[in-house]
Formats: sequence, C-alpha cells, structure tokens
Amino acid sequence: MPTEYPNLTVIAHPLIRHKLAVLRDRETSKKKFKELVDEIATLMAYEVTRDLPVHDVEIETPLERTTEQMIAGKKLTLVPILRAGLGMVDGVARLMPSVRVGHIGLYRDHETLEPVDYYFKIPKTPEERHFIVLDPMLATGGSASAAVSSLKKQGVARIQFVCLVAAPEGVARMLKDHPDVQVFTAALDRELNAQGYILPGLGDAGDRLFGTK
Ligand code: PRP
Ligand code: URA
Repeated sequence: MPTEYPNLTVIAHPLIRHKLAVLRDRETSKKKFKELVDEIATLMAYEVTRDLPVHDVEIETPLERTTEQMIAGKKLTLVPILRAGLGMVDGVARLMPSVRVGHIGLYRDHETLEPVDYYFKIPKTPEERHFIVLDPMLATGGSASAAVSSLKKQGVARIQFVCLVAAPEGVARMLKDHPDVQVFTAALDRELNAQGYILPGLGDAGDRLFGTK
C-alpha cells in the first residue's frame, strides 16, 4: 500500500490485519501473542522477498527436462534486534530454511529513549550478503537506525527493515538516516506517547513475548 513515505511499504493483507488486531488486544495471552508474531512474520516475508533476483535452472522432472527459476544473488541473512525481534525469526526462516541469522542486542534507555547496544554478531563476509533486520516495533526509530548503522559499518550494502507496527516518527527517522533502507510494516500507527510508546500500538513487544516486565 503506498504511503506518504517513499521508504515505507505497508503490507495490509486481510490475514495480516486480522492477526494484528488480535495481537494488539490486551487480553491476548503470551502464548497466542508469540504464535501471532510468528505467523505475521511468515506472511510478511512473502511480500518482503518479492523482488529477490532469480536465475534459470535446469530441472529433470519425472517426465522431462525443463527450465525453472530459483533465487539468485546475495545470500540472505536475518538479523533480529534483541529481544523482541527474536519472535519474528522462525516465521521468516520457515520460508527460507538455509538462511543465516545474526543478532544485534539493543535496548532503549527508559529515560532518554536512546538505544544502548550490548551485542553484535553477524556472519563473515557481510558485504556479500543481503540483510533483513527484524524488530516488531519501530517507535522513535533510534534502535532501527543504530542497528542499520552498525551493519553498514561492517560493509553491508543491501538492507531491508521489517516490523509489525511503525510510528510516523520512526519511519521519518529511518528516511532521514537511511533513505536506502526500505521499511516494511503491517501497520502505520498514529503517534508516540510521551514515554515513546506507539499509539494505539500493542504495548511492550518484548515484555508480551517473553512474559517479563
Ligand atoms: C523495543 C523494540 C525496539 C525498540 C523500538 O525494544 O523491540 O527494539 O523498543 O523503539 P525505538 O524505535 O524508539 O528505538 P526495547 O528497547 O524495549 O528492548 P527489549 O526488546 O529488550 O525489551
Ligand atoms: N517498544 C515497544 O515494545 N513498544 C512500543 O510501543 C515502543 C517501543
């Protein structure tokens, strides 16, 4: 769905909208929340990978030889931003089982809302890979922007960012800091509150996934 932001793609499929509605509900259990994040990530992965290059391959069917197409080009790497991004990994990897998974550890300081980094591990030769960064929430955009900057510092050139709920502030921050990175979201919400939470949002994604406060 086109938006006013050139860097934003909203994937508003009815299945995604339905599952997102249940995800937002404060009464949704931790178990159900985890299942829904996983399922929405799978559905979004279909759209996020739409433009991956393919190349011709020769295949012997039981009846004859034919030309088919397979994904070509740079190898894919998923990078969840810890912690909440972890909830999206299996959902995406289900469609691409050979994908590598890196990890970026960041948390938002509750006072300043600035990201604090504590872990970084990605596959060797990152410049040869295509990265998909995963985090359910794009709020101020500080965490997403810092994660993308860390990847670029390692020589990564091809990056997509996938979230479930985005705030306009976060999308604008990504457009300013990383206009080359397309942001995919299931919903573009209204605004941030004074504490940096997305409205209407779904609350604290990490806490709801892992049952902590
Ligand atoms: C949440 C979320 C993002 C970040 C978004 O993580 O998962 O990483 O906040 O906010 P921002 O766009 O303003 O940076 P949090 O800091 O709560 O860490 P956690 O996943 O470890 O709970
Ligand atoms: N992080 C979350 O988990 N939720 C928000 O609404 C904002 C940041």
